[in-house]
Amino acid sequence: MDPQKTVFSGIQPTAAPHIGNYLGALKNYVELSKIYRCVYSVVDLHSITVRQDPEGLRRRVRELYALLLACGPEPRNTVLYVQSHVPAHAELCWILNNFTMFGELSRMTQFKDKSAKHADNINAGLFTYPVLQAADIVLYGADIVPIGEDQKQHLELARDIAIRFNGVYGEILTVPEPLIPKLGGRIMSLADPSHKMDKSDPNPAGVLSMLDDRDAIIKKCKRAVTDSGAEVRYDPVEKPGVSNLMTIYGLCVGKDMQAVEKEFAGQGYGAFKTAVGEAADSVLSPIRAKAAEYIQTPAHLDKLMAEEAGRAEAIAEPVLRRVRDAIGFLPRK
Ligand code: TYM
Repeated sequence: MDPQKTVFSGIQPTAAPHIGNYLGALKNYVELSKIYRCVYSVVDLHSITVRQDPEGLRRRVRELYALLLACGPEPRNTVLYVQSHVPAHAELCWILNNFTMFGELSRMTQFKDKSAKHADNINAGLFTYPVLQAADIVLYGADIVPIGEDQKQHLELARDIAIRFNGVYGEILTVPEPLIPKLGGRIMSLADPSHKMDKSDPNPAGVLSMLDDRDAIIKKCKRAVTDSGAEVRYDPVEKPGVSNLMTIYGLCVGKDMQAVEKEFAGQGYGAFKTAVGEAADSVLSPIRAKAAEYIQTPAHLDKLMAEEAGRAEAIAEPVLRRVRDAIGFLPRK
């Protein structure tokens, strides 16, 4: 454990975050902030690859920023800012575009999925999205990137881009390592456990939003799709629905899968599902309440965002300067 290391991660303000985002990524943000210097971003530049309504975007950025604050990362070690407040991301993205191959971007599964979903708007931003993600990470010299499983391919590409750049100019960029939780790296939809829980899922029954109230959380867990049978047993292949609920429960109460099996041995799905809902709510409700307080003081939130953008820039600027110098751009005197 090297406390000098830097952590970076980002989350899109396309919709309210869900328990998958929390257990796959945000929970780790908080843990890591106890040890390392952490830089976390609400990545609004990424979100416009899909059309966003301007008023809705403004509201969701504030909401997400408040939720991240409410999760409670250690403030002394954490910079939490809004991506579009730091123009260096866009500049470095342009530079790294020239170190990224068309073929590499064509192979990104997220690009393929999103192109299929938004066939009427397959724009260049959607295609170069992973280059902006690589820029986000290397801009802060990040060593560690906490993410869910779905971002693994983007992380591999970010590493390849950094290695390629360094191959040309020397050791300028830090090559990042992904950090994906063994349990919780891929939380599945409650309505269809063969698909991951997804912020933009049009079916709200599949998604436990961090903004859902207690009743909604309990109702969604009670209605979660499970397999036939009645045994609470961890087997993601044979029993994906139950295993997903067990994962959520275990991570919320701090128990491994064996302990969860033991706790519910001989009990039916009914009691188990109620317990999952209650456990999820007991983790999410204090965060929700704290976030609501932040949202009620918009002037304080704005001030904080501005200060944090300044702190982010102070880390990013020297990295970007080294990149500019290495390439041969004339310094502005
Ligand atoms: P986003 O906004 O889709 O998700 C935020 C984080 O949550 C994780 N995640 C999940 N984890 C477990 N189960 C799920 N069902 C689940 N769904 C999402 C994601 O893996 C992610 O860690 N491209 C990124 C945002 C980004 C970024 C970055 C991340 C932009 N720049 C730089 C890391 C570093 C995204 O769309 O995440």
